[in-house]
Amino acid sequence: MGHAKKVVLAYSGGVDTSVCIPYLKNEWGVEEVITLAADLGQGDELEPIREKALKSGASESLVVDVRDSFIKEYAFPAIQANALYEQRYPLGTSLARPLIAKILVETASKYGADAIAHGCTGKGNDQVRFDVSVGALNPHLKILAPAREWGMSREETIAYGERFGIPSPVKKSSPYSIDKNLLGRSIEAGILEDPTVEPPEEIYEMTKAIANTPNEPEYIDIGFTKGIPTTLNGKATNPVELIEQLNQIAGNHGVGRIDMIENRLVGIKSREIYESPAMIVLIQAHRDLESLTLTADVTQYKRGIEQTYTQIVYNGLWYSPLKSAVDAFIQETQERVSGNVKVKLFKGNATIVSRDSQNSLYTPDLATYGSGDKFDHKAAEGFVYVWGLPTRIWARH
Ligand code: ARG
Repeated sequence: MGHAKKVVLAYSGGVDTSVCIPYLKNEWGVEEVITLAADLGQGDELEPIREKALKSGASESLVVDVRDSFIKEYAFPAIQANALYEQRYPLGTSLARPLIAKILVETASKYGADAIAHGCTGKGNDQVRFDVSVGALNPHLKILAPAREWGMSREETIAYGERFGIPSPVKKSSPYSIDKNLLGRSIEAGILEDPTVEPPEEIYEMTKAIANTPNEPEYIDIGFTKGIPTTLNGKATNPVELIEQLNQIAGNHGVGRIDMIENRLVGIKSREIYESPAMIVLIQAHRDLESLTLTADVTQYKRGIEQTYTQIVYNGLWYSPLKSAVDAFIQETQERVSGNVKVKLFKGNATIVSRDSQNSLYTPDLATYGSGDKFDHKAAEGFVYVWGLPTRIWARH
């Protein structure tokens, strides 16, 4: 295989990506490995991660804070699209990958690298998202995925790392595979691989068990401007803080847990647990505000586009012509989606209890059953006659 001289490696600080460093150099003849760790609000301490890469043999170890663009450019558009994969998963991991790919490509160009690398295995979605995104942003870069080829077990990987001074995980490492960022956590593997087993409470971090949530409901107000959440309880809040605060508030009421069997792009089903309090609340609130401010046909037509959008993102096609076209449609629909939604949080539920907009299409004098009714009831007769005509003709035979 024609390997590369200088490589930018997507780095998390875990054993696998650490082992990638000596592996690339010693097995694949790479001369220089530059690591890149993205701060997506995963809450890990980044300075030790930066140092670990250097100790593992990286020539340069970069850490970039991309939290703001992660929320503004990736999460908010997904909220505007009400994106829930298979109606449930708010794409926390899927949305992060194209952003990481973008900074990998930018870094490769800045440092004159001829390849990027990642530690994904061959049976997940993330390899697809990285490879396709990098290819879309710079088709001339090589993509190296050592973990897709090395065929080492977990133990062998750790042993390989130890030969190059990579410490084996101190605590008996968690049996779970976890990915986390500002948008939530994904937990896989271990006992969760048995879909008949209820997830143990220990896997959750962002959401409380119902038994421990407050016994009084909490009401929050979310303000949207053109489909983007901008205020929390009446206060203008910047994107990252809004997500952080909402994770905290909704998680405290046990909102945002998801347990599902998911269809991966690579053809297998996997049992996935997510906790994603802010995204779940925001998508619900946003969808409700759309029902007040969009016409019936746009609302209903958009549902199909949302499905398409979600598939595009899940399947790694963030930087694709279809994605751009779908984005244009969604943006066009958001022009009037401004207003406020009140959400009641209680015992694992987020319930919309109030919505209000200066662009509301709800017309009280047409909707009312009371005395102020302005609806022309007589006009309905002709409408219904014509509407039902094809059905009556059909019924004659
Ligand atoms: N199944 C989810 C997805 O494909 C989460 C994947 C989590 N990734 C990970 N490396 N643990 O988006």
